[in-house]
Amino acid sequence: MATGPVASDEQGHQTITSDREGVIRHWGREAEKVFGYTPDEAIGRKVDLIIPTVLQGRHWRGFEKAIETGRMKRPGKTLKIPAVHKDGTIIPFRGSLVLSHAADGNVDGAVATVLGRGPAWRGTAWRVVLAPLNLGQLFKRRKPVE
Ligand code: HEM
Repeated sequence: MATGPVASDEQGHQTITSDREGVIRHWGREAEKVFGYTPDEAIGRKVDLIIPTVLQGRHWRGFEKAIETGRMKRPGKTLKIPAVHKDGTIIPFRGSLVLSHAADGNVDGAVATVLGRGPAWRGTAWRVVLAPLNLGQLFKRRKPVE
């Protein structure tokens, strides 16, 4: 099991876990509150579900490297990350990431701790930075989840 932020969240309400392929295996209550999907809707989907289209390439490069090497750039650090809500809007998600390990010590996936929804990005500079994310979502053909 992962250590760190997860240790203080024994029921896993605050966590999202994925396997080595990035498929969601656990979706805590806080994830449901922040992103709008129920566990039934999220489990079995790839974590792309909540990643803005234009950030997916970077996510998967970082993710695969971390899974293969067992090393992360910023393990456990609290980050404010743009995420996609079920309603299609880009929301500020506050959370952190660690890798999880099987009993034999091998990396078996990743754990995101959901700390909540952060304050919105304000100001013109941020609007410019975030514009491609919103555009990316417009052009994304996503299968609606009922
Ligand atoms: C809003 C959702 C998310 C976004 C926008 C996102 C984006 C990113 C980006 C841009 C990177 C590359 C970071 C870098 O190069 O420094 C990354 C890395 C990573 N992501 Fe995601 N990601 C999201 C959700 C998740 C979730 C839910 C998980 C796992 C359950 C996850 C696991 C990872 C891992 C393990 C890395 C490697 C991090 C490191 O080396 O420090 N991500 N992600």
